Amino acid sequence: MVNLRSALALGLAQLCHLRVAQAISPQRIVHDLQAQLSVGSEVVLTSNPSFEEDFTSRFSASHSPKFVVGAKPKKVSDVQKVIRYASKNKVPFLATGGGHGYTWTLGELENAIQLDLGHFQTIDINTDANTMTIGGAVRIGNVTEQLHAVGKEFPVGMCPTVGISGYTLGGGVGPLGGMYGAASDNLLSAEVVTGSGEVLTVSAKSHPDLWYGLRGAGFNYGVVTSMKYRIHPATNNGEITVINAMFPAALNGSVWEACNSFVGRHPKELSILFAIRLNETLGGISPIASFIYFGPRDEALKVVKPFLDLNPLHVEIHQSNLAEFSNVALYADVADIGSRKAIDFAPFTLNLYKVDVKNLVNVINFMNTTLAENDDLKGATLSWAQYPTEGFLSYPSRSSAFAYRDVIVYFSIDGFTEDVAKLPLLDDFGKVLRDMLQLGSGRPQLETYVHFGHGDEGPRSWYSAAKLPRLRALKRVYDPRNLFSWYNPVPSVGH
Ligand SMILES: Cc1cc2nc3c(=O)[nH]c(=O)nc-3n(C[C@H](O)[C@H](O)[C@H](O)COP(=O)(O)OP(=O)(O)OC[C@H]3O[C@@H](n4cnc5c(N)ncnc54)[C@H](O)[C@@H]3O)c2cc1C
Ligand SMILES: *[C@@H]1O[C@H](CO)[C@@H](O)[C@H](O)[C@H]1NC(C)=O
Ligand SMILES: *[C@@H]1O[C@H](CO)[C@@H](O)[C@H](O)[C@H]1NC(C)=O
Ligand SMILES: *[C@@H]1O[C@H](CO)[C@@H](O)[C@H](O)[C@H]1NC(C)=O
Ligand SMILES: *[C@@H]1O[C@H](CO)[C@@H](O)[C@H](O)[C@H]1NC(C)=O
Repeated sequence: MVNLRSALALGLAQLCHLRVAQAISPQRIVHDLQAQLSVGSEVVLTSNPSFEEDFTSRFSASHSPKFVVGAKPKKVSDVQKVIRYASKNKVPFLATGGGHGYTWTLGELENAIQLDLGHFQTIDINTDANTMTIGGAVRIGNVTEQLHAVGKEFPVGMCPTVGISGYTLGGGVGPLGGMYGAASDNLLSAEVVTGSGEVLTVSAKSHPDLWYGLRGAGFNYGVVTSMKYRIHPATNNGEITVINAMFPAALNGSVWEACNSFVGRHPKELSILFAIRLNETLGGISPIASFIYFGPRDEALKVVKPFLDLNPLHVEIHQSNLAEFSNVALYADVADIGSRKAIDFAPFTLNLYKVDVKNLVNVINFMNTTLAENDDLKGATLSWAQYPTEGFLSYPSRSSAFAYRDVIVYFSIDGFTEDVAKLPLLDDFGKVLRDMLQLGSGRPQLETYVHFGHGDEGPRSWYSAAKLPRLRALKRVYDPRNLFSWYNPVPSVGH
């Protein structure tokens, strides 16, 4: 479903990378940077055992970046130095926050410096002003406990180990989105080191052009050392109800019908999540559900009645909070997966703008048959995130680069495997499922949330045709050398 134009534009971006030939040895890079960076910074070869110990490891091993040097700056001025050095010597680099980025475009990056922001860990919560200022490498799990302790909340994602800056730069969607929109909608300002090594404070008033691009396409334009956000008083005194339920495969059609009944009348406190995979005990490709409700138990039970009336095989109810809900959601599946390292999987995604019950049943049946016949595909997992749109739609589309505010379901297809040789099979299977699902997506073209992308969708799919001209113009101003073009990049040239 990649259209030719975006494929061409992507090709051009990659051509620019080809010109960045390695002219300098890793040993030399370590030597030079060690001499320049301040005390407390660390620069090592990736073959050095302290790299493994001190540097942020990656969640995904598949098509991941290949680093030769780790540089961990202590101060903002050190970040400037690394960027200026790398730019001058044509050494490619990638900033690392939480290390959870998994698009396969990252695999294009070789002989690179890992610019690890691990020292940027400050968290400063101002309860009176309702603001939070965090360093560039702070993870979601680092702030949820502190926010909960002071009775505040912020639209976090589902996984505690994801870096907040990285998450926000692509938008940032999660179960509080129904109330507050994307994480990027709650950003007030950011400190950004650009490709020329300049430090900018970016906000609605300061560099408003970059402010637009930063929120939704931000990893294209610089390295963020700190971000300041708006936070909110906790809903329902911070108590969250999480209801998990298991449905047998035979009920899948009724489950999609129930999902469809929420479209257009979806309470802003409710999120509907499914992990859908093979479970022979449950009779095939079975939906495991989590209903996350920012409100009391009795209200939650009333709201999700259409699902409970289907008689799931199992139901459990948790009283939870912002710091804990990810650990219990989906029978602890999210927390388990999110904290793993170097896993192999073929990721795919697409936005659904309607719940097409018939098409979904076709997909489940096709998958049920295919997996019954093919052991190599048994790790294929579908995930469904149906967030209320109210919070997202409360901000106009033109307010930022965050592309799709009217998504009904963020649908992901992840082909997990413990045998990397099976990856190409899962890759092909993911493409087939994506094409099938696209037919019932409600849009003629593939539209994807940039953070869940495979990497083959192209910039029009990640950023929308309407937003691309402005994003390309920004690229020419703030990153003319394509230093930040490894993660689902905005091409500086093309249509
Ligand atoms: C298990 C799992 C669950 C997830 N759940 C959600 C979810 O619920 N909602 C959601 O919206 N997303 C979710 N994501 C996607 C996540 O938001 C992205 O993968 C995001 O890129 C992760 O940021 P990171 O800092 O952890 O990753 P990294 O790999 O460190 O960074 C990803 C990209 O962002 C850039 N980047 C990171 N930090 C900075 C910075 N400070 N300055 C400049 N560039 C930076 C990196 O250079 C890289 O290009 C999930 C991902 C995983 C693996
Ligand atoms: C954030 O969490 C990581 C581990 O998950 C930890 O190493 C780090 O110290 C934490 N930072 C803060 C500020 O709590
Ligand atoms: C999915 O649900 C439909 C009916 O709604 C049913 O016909 C089909 O058999 C179910 N699929 C599986 C794999 O059980
Ligand atoms: C399959 O479902 C059963 C519940 O019926 C559950 O106990 C088991 O853990 C599930 N297996 C897998 C692999 O998810
Ligand atoms: C789904 O697959 C399972 C085997 O994994 C099989 O027992 C079941 O009959 C299949 N269901 C349908 C509706 O084909």
